[in-house]
Amino acid sequence: PSLLRVGLAGLGTVGASVLNRIRLQQAALEETTHRRIVVTGVSARSKAKAASLDLGEATWFDDPIELARSGDIDLFVELMGGSGDPALTAVRHALSSGKAVVTANKALLAAHGMELATLAEERRVPLGFEASVAGGIPVVKTLREGLAGNVIDRVYGILNGTCNYILSRMELEGLGFEQCLAEAQRLGYAEADPTFDIDGFDTAHKLAILSTLAFGTAIAADAIHVEGIRTISLADIRAADELGFRIKLLGVAQRVAGGIESRVHPTMVPKSSAIAQVMGVTNAVTVDADAVRELTLIGPGAGGEATASAVVADIADIARGVRSAPFGRPVAALVPTAPVPLQRH
Ligand code: NDP
Ligand code: HSE
Repeated sequence: PSLLRVGLAGLGTVGASVLNRIRLQQAALEETTHRRIVVTGVSARSKAKAASLDLGEATWFDDPIELARSGDIDLFVELMGGSGDPALTAVRHALSSGKAVVTANKALLAAHGMELATLAEERRVPLGFEASVAGGIPVVKTLREGLAGNVIDRVYGILNGTCNYILSRMELEGLGFEQCLAEAQRLGYAEADPTFDIDGFDTAHKLAILSTLAFGTAIAADAIHVEGIRTISLADIRAADELGFRIKLLGVAQRVAGGIESRVHPTMVPKSSAIAQVMGVTNAVTVDADAVRELTLIGPGAGGEATASAVVADIADIARGVRSAPFGRPVAALVPTAPVPLQRH
């Protein structure tokens, strides 16, 4: 089989698991894709920290942008994070030079997804981002391919594993917010800057990506009303419990008169509801659509192995030659989204 040479930038929680998973699944991937997937180049900030990983024959690059430009890779996998450089310039270089790109970086896509998808279309190369929303849940594929025959009315759910983990442990074990957050960081669930998680912006980034796939609108993270969970106390959780509710951080995007209403905020959900049963780092995404009516996907929303599952799925698609428009339709066909005032019920 022909080689698919992968350049991997970022060897942290997700990157280390991707290395491991490619190696573990190499024979099976070769059978199903008819390509031999090999990591030939790697990059991270600290070479010393990466010394504990088995990098095989991969060449080390101090600069991820040099890795993205290297003629010795076919596919650039961006797992560094951050909406700016070096991730942005590296991905631009990779796409411009005709290389496929896979990223888990929702902050980058929320800020520059339209530009990067346009570049990918112009160069006729794939841009995979399954891991950018809801960790191990294949929600991008479900919306883009699985539900292509539907008109989608609403997409909503629990999209941040860190927040759901914090709220669950506070409720079930009576622990304080800070202690639960520290534990989520230790387990590799939280963003490098956890304010993105707890202030709701990570959920908003993911909701912006989902809205684009579901409604054919341009990415517009700043059209989303955002509130996080920073101010939720144990007393709030207990008060909700006494009334028969649980507090969940939800992201909701739905068609309303005048456009798409998009919001992220803590929500009291009845304890008897399905979404209230989703605890810990688990995420849930529900889609209301005309043909399937209602469909819910539940699974691990963060963590190295679960996220690596989604990254490797994109790599396998690229190895097979699957080429979907990043957002399911050409970027030029996406329509602008304007902020829509919240309809309070
Ligand atoms: P980590 O912080 O664990 O790892 C980041 C890696 O990128 C590290 O190897 C780091 O180097 C490297 N890196 C960071 N900045 C630079 C830079 N300026 N130049 C070169 N290398 C750099 O992050 P995660 O693995 O948790 O997350 C990676 C991406 O995946 C992010 O976009 C995140 O939002 C996304 N994601 C994460 C999930 C999770 O559960 N953790 C789930 C879904 C998506 P060094 O090791 O030397 O510090
Ligand atoms: N920090 C994110 C979360 C990682 O907790 O959901 C997965 O995107």
